[in-house]
Amino acid sequence: MKRLDAILEAAPGLIDGAADLPALASVEAELLGKSSVVGELRRGMGKLDPEQRPVVGAKLQEAADQLKTQVARRREVLEMAAERELLISDRLDLTLDAWVPTVGTRHLITQVIEEVTDIFLGLGYVVADGPEVENVWYNFDALNTPDWHPSRLESDTLYVEYRERDDVLMRVHTSPVQARYMEANDPPVYIIAPGRTFRTDTWDATHSPSFHQIEGLVVDEHITFSDLKGTLIHFVHEFFGPDTEVQFNPHFFPFTEPSAELHVKLDGTWLEMLGCGVVDPDVLVNVGYDPDKYSGFAFGMGVERLAMPKYGIKDIRRFYENDLRVLRQFP
Ligand code: DAH
Repeated sequence: MKRLDAILEAAPGLIDGAADLPALASVEAELLGKSSVVGELRRGMGKLDPEQRPVVGAKLQEAADQLKTQVARRREVLEMAAERELLISDRLDLTLDAWVPTVGTRHLITQVIEEVTDIFLGLGYVVADGPEVENVWYNFDALNTPDWHPSRLESDTLYVEYRERDDVLMRVHTSPVQARYMEANDPPVYIIAPGRTFRTDTWDATHSPSFHQIEGLVVDEHITFSDLKGTLIHFVHEFFGPDTEVQFNPHFFPFTEPSAELHVKLDGTWLEMLGCGVVDPDVLVNVGYDPDKYSGFAFGMGVERLAMPKYGIKDIRRFYENDLRVLRQFP
């Protein structure tokens, strides 16, 4: 019985000293298990006098209950602590900086192409395109360009060595899209065709061997030069502002008759913006359209030429150098 009292006295210290659940489990075995003092006394009960048994039995039971209660209390505390630890180790640290990828912007040329295209989409046009590597038929012949025309010379046009052929070239304008589109589609035609074009020009402040154009073509019944004027004046007013002055000056292009150059007055200076005209009936015949039934107008404008005065760019080379200090000004 003395040993039991000693155990009861030591138990609170042992139980509270258990730092975690496994430690508590071994303390529990030590206090209540088979080889514990309590276990030993229980096994010895049979040897006691019958009168002593209830007394000792009750004392033992009381001691065991006391120890169990203490262990259970400590277990609760340790379980809560373990749970808290788990929650803490599972926590997401949301204070870390997120990785934000650098997002580029569209190039100014692309932006201007979209600006112009949007104006014509608003008039019901659709976007068409064609290959940058063309052949002589679409680039010149179908467009009524005579054999002797100087633009066909190698001094103006970049020819491509392709198998045994001598008629493959980098398109000098977007006008071949006119012929390709008409060949593949019946009238009415209302198209806008932006794209890259190539010439043998030497790189300087106003020339580049590769630049961009936007072609326009309308073919329908009863189309006249007035439709051309109204459409292009609307375009200029949308693009450069509603008070911009516009002039149509007589010019020559093989594929239009009559032809004109459109000049726009910006900051007091007249600038040539685009070529245009009434589609030559020979072009309509070349693509299989009936020139007695249909007529049309066409125009072709330089994207860089539109962009430079509008965005204050003084040197065409700035567009192609990929200088971020320039590109970042046009987000
Ligand atoms: N293709 C011409 C050039 O590159 C521009 C042009 C003029 C296009 C008159 C046209 C047009 O469609 O009708 O200079």
